[in-house]
Formats: sequence, C-alpha cells, structure tokens
Amino acid sequence: MTYTYEYFKKSADYLKEKIDFVPEIAIVLGSCLGPFSNEIENPVVIDYADIPNFLVSTVSSHAGKLIFGTVCGKKVVCMSGRFHSYEGYDFEQLVIPVRVLKLLGVKTLILTNAAGAVNTDYRPGDVMLVSDHIKLTGASPLRGHNVEEFGPRFFDISRMYTPQLREIALKCAEGTGLTVHEGVYMFFTGPQFETPAEIRAARILGADAVGMSTVTEALTAAHCGMPLLAVSVMTNMAAGVLDRPLTSEEVDETAKTIEHRFSSYMKKIVAAI
Ligand code: HPA
Repeated sequence: MTYTYEYFKKSADYLKEKIDFVPEIAIVLGSCLGPFSNEIENPVVIDYADIPNFLVSTVSSHAGKLIFGTVCGKKVVCMSGRFHSYEGYDFEQLVIPVRVLKLLGVKTLILTNAAGAVNTDYRPGDVMLVSDHIKLTGASPLRGHNVEEFGPRFFDISRMYTPQLREIALKCAEGTGLTVHEGVYMFFTGPQFETPAEIRAARILGADAVGMSTVTEALTAAHCGMPLLAVSVMTNMAAGVLDRPLTSEEVDETAKTIEHRFSSYMKKIVAAI
C-alpha cells in the first residue's frame, strides 16, 4: 500500500468538520494515563472506527478514541488508545495517527508509555523523560514512498526528543512526589516481554528502559518537524532484574497505583508548554 498525502488528508478533513478549533497539543495516552481523559473539558469524542483511513485499536485496555477539548486553558487532542507493531500493523501504517495530528495543526506531541526499567537505579513507579532511543529491531515507519509534504527522505534525529520540552517537564516534576529521570528508551517489538539476556544486552548498549511503543510515533513526528516530549512510567523492573517472572498483571497494577499522580504531572506539563 502506498500512503499519499491525500490518504492522510482524508482523515484530517473528516475530523476538521467535527471540531471548531485547532488543537495545539496532542497527547498519546499510554497505559498509565487513563484518568487524564477525565481532565479534558468540553470533550468531543470520536471513535477511531468512524475516521476514514484511520486504524482500529485491538488492545483491550486501549479505548480507541480521539478526544478533543481543553486542558488548563490549552486546546488539546488526546489519543486514548494507540497502535503497536505487535498488533500486526505494518511499520508503514504506524505513521497514520501522527500525520493526521500534524494535518489538524498540532504543534507539540506528547507521547506517554509504560516501560520496563533496565537501569537498576530506577524503581517501579519512577518516571523517565526519553532523551534518546535505540531501535535495532523492525523496519522504520518511514520506509517506502516518502511523502515530501511531511518531510525529506533522509532526516536528522539527533535531537528529536526536544530538549526545551524536557527542561519544562523536569521543572514541572518539582513538588509532584514523583521521581523523574532522563534516559534512553529501547524499542522491542513484543508482544512477548524481553529475555533476561536481551535486557542485559540493552543495558550494555546504554538503555535505561524498554518498551513496545512510542518510537514509531516519535520518528513520524521527527520526520515532519514536530516538537516532541516522550514520557515513560516504569511499571516494572525489566525481565531478569528480579528473580521472578514478569507478568502483565504487575505492569497493570503499578500503572493503577501511579495513574492519578502521573495525570496531575501531565496536566502541569500541558499548562507549562
Ligand atoms: N518490556 C516491554 N514493554 C513493557 C515492559 C517491559 O518490561 N513493561 C511495560 N511495557
């Protein structure tokens, strides 16, 4: 499938008919940010299934809705539910949401996710602002036909996690009671968690956390020059760090215990941007 500019424009044009403002900030709500959707004032909710040329969430904990509205006086759009390679999507398809957000006029993208802590100084419940990533698996979402309207074929990604946004997020951490680090996120395709050997390798390579999302969206944003903040919540120590198997229940439980504090933190960041 070749994705043309018109392909993405069709989704954006549909959405523009439903809203009467330009969202300034887009927030992709990861597993730890459920309560954030309750903070959106005057919400306009649109099911992914109703948007032409969009994708459909297949993960049960991901709602599959775009929510437009206001948070702390800022016009926002939230993606409640995101798309992962492990669901069976081609990497090339994973550009769709961020490109549609770009066409809606979004200026800043915030990505959030749950991640496993590789850095043994980190603890479950800690937060990490992504300063860089490692992706050695899978193809690039920018593979294939380059849509010049979004960006050039070859592009620099050495500062793709916008330093100024990280500075704002670090300042906002004060007084939240959260421990906030800056570190390197390593992408694994999943859906299986990693092996202990993969985690040891990730640590040697310089990773502080591992996860199955975010990087495809981040690369799409970097391609079209969109300022980007990516924030990971450590829901567990990565495989092999502790002498017990890793379960998705553990991930969900930590996500639940932190989601309210994390939502308040995100609200503070949105206000400060
Ligand atoms: N590995 C990959 N993805 C994750 C993890 C992990 O340990 N925890 C939450 N998402």
